[in-house]
Amino acid sequence: MFKIAVLVSGGGTNLQAVIDAIGDGSLPGVEIVKVISNKEGAYALKRADICGIDNCCISPKAYEDRAAYFDAMIEAIKGSGADLVVLAGFLVVLSAEFINAFRGRIINIHPSLIPSFCGDGYYGLKVHEAALRRGVKVTGATVHFVDEGTDTGPIIIQKAVYINNGDTPEVLQKRVMEQAEWKILPEAILAIAKGRVRMEDGRAIVIYE
Ligand code: GRF
Repeated sequence: MFKIAVLVSGGGTNLQAVIDAIGDGSLPGVEIVKVISNKEGAYALKRADICGIDNCCISPKAYEDRAAYFDAMIEAIKGSGADLVVLAGFLVVLSAEFINAFRGRIINIHPSLIPSFCGDGYYGLKVHEAALRRGVKVTGATVHFVDEGTDTGPIIIQKAVYINNGDTPEVLQKRVMEQAEWKILPEAILAIAKGRVRMEDGRAIVIYE
């Protein structure tokens, strides 16, 4: 069984997409063994509860410093036996120790076509506000391996989404989630679980069948 730990901070619709993909058989051999939120009461934890998935809140506020917080996070994830760490709307900046502990085994979903509209300060609606402000006609989502930078790791999968006249950031966010994020995150997990994608020497090695 390929085990994944999912780190969340908010509503958990990407977590739900992975749960649903496992449920409908499109993620064979994959199991979510742990969901961890930094936010008490995040609806993503409720989603895990509903499906009987082990979940908890590990809040940075409960620790004297970042090092202690990430020690607790590393221990919890290692204790779950996860093979892959999936950041699904997780808004805490990872420490170098955490990245080293799971190097090459952390992926993130970002709501734009990296390298556009990404990096420090680009998260949630801000990403879509920037795309609309710039006037791009196409945006989308990206799944990438996580390295020490912000949204700088090797790209695994991307999916484009058209921007329509009159789109608001909220309408665009929903379309990018529905048409891109919720599809490519399960796809990326399956590709990694099947050994078709791995991170090597700082690059994503994709083996197309
Ligand atoms: C998504 O837009 C994701 O791309 C970004 O944060 C948001 C999380 O949404 N990283 P949800 O918690 O998965 O609904």
